[in-house]
Amino acid sequence: MPSPQNALDLTIGQQVPRPQQPFKNAKAWARTDISPADWTVTLEAPARREIDAVVKSLRQQNLPLYMLKPEQFELTATAKHMKEARLRAYDGIGFSVVDRLPLDEWTLDEATAMQWLLLSLVSQPVAQQADGQIFRDIKETLVRSQYNQGLTQERLTFHTDNSGNRNLPNFSTLMCLHKAEEGGMSEYCTIYSLYNAMLKEAPEQLDRLFQPYYHNRQDIQIPGEPDVSWAPAIGYDGERLLSRFSLNKIPSGYQRAGAELDNLGRDALETALAVIRQRDLSAKYMLERGQILIFNNREGLHHREGFKNGDTVETQRHLLRVWLRDEGRPFFDG
Ligand SMILES: [Fe+2]
Repeated sequence: MPSPQNALDLTIGQQVPRPQQPFKNAKAWARTDISPADWTVTLEAPARREIDAVVKSLRQQNLPLYMLKPEQFELTATAKHMKEARLRAYDGIGFSVVDRLPLDEWTLDEATAMQWLLLSLVSQPVAQQADGQIFRDIKETLVRSQYNQGLTQERLTFHTDNSGNRNLPNFSTLMCLHKAEEGGMSEYCTIYSLYNAMLKEAPEQLDRLFQPYYHNRQDIQIPGEPDVSWAPAIGYDGERLLSRFSLNKIPSGYQRAGAELDNLGRDALETALAVIRQRDLSAKYMLERGQILIFNNREGLHHREGFKNGDTVETQRHLLRVWLRDEGRPFFDG
């Protein structure tokens, strides 16, 4: 397929043909294969004592948040838990939930400082847009645009974060400050489970996912760059799959490019969603206040149900998102 004009071409270097055999790794599972014990990483007493000591020490003398580093504190037990949380997300089932920080005892600044320190033990926090934003508030906003569906109470659809841009975060993480009064269940599915199911049931549509699509870059790219990219919905580097699958950023990418999504291309996206639903390929979990979700963004898809906020801050869903990437500089584009 020729690469179109006026799009960032990300197909270069993606010449490895898709594998032909099903994947047999820890990321190939269906809902009934795993349970909360598989994704929950409990902070035990020694770690909780370390974390408590860090907050007490920051109350005595502090630094600007981005100057704080884990090695400035005694966090040996905590680091073991965070390493375990990383392992489950990177080489295990694809996600983990760290349970949990005592947010009721802390100010928001203290909570954010601990979030920063704990996640720095997992990988490198990176900017979520070209202007350098590191923490992103995930809560309902009254300023609507066609690209901030994540900031509404509406149901989302399965996607990978930052799928329209060059350097996807390895991990997307969310610390829950408050959950909604009602609803807001999250889901996660790995691209390997989806791959295996489609290999059996929809090989033609699976082939199409490995061909390029337009992707909406959501105006978070470097100013002056094309507002769409051109890349497969699923890529393969010979070892790992890379997801750029999104049921909103691909169709809206075609809209922005002024192009028509081909029938097979649309069918492939819809079939993938149907397969996830019919085969129960996603895990479901509700994030509680103080928990930190860490998921493998490049090798999975996530989604959440709609929710209903209450009248008080405590009943209005509010998460703090941080992206982590193993390589490159911490700038948006590495
Ligand atoms: Fe997301």
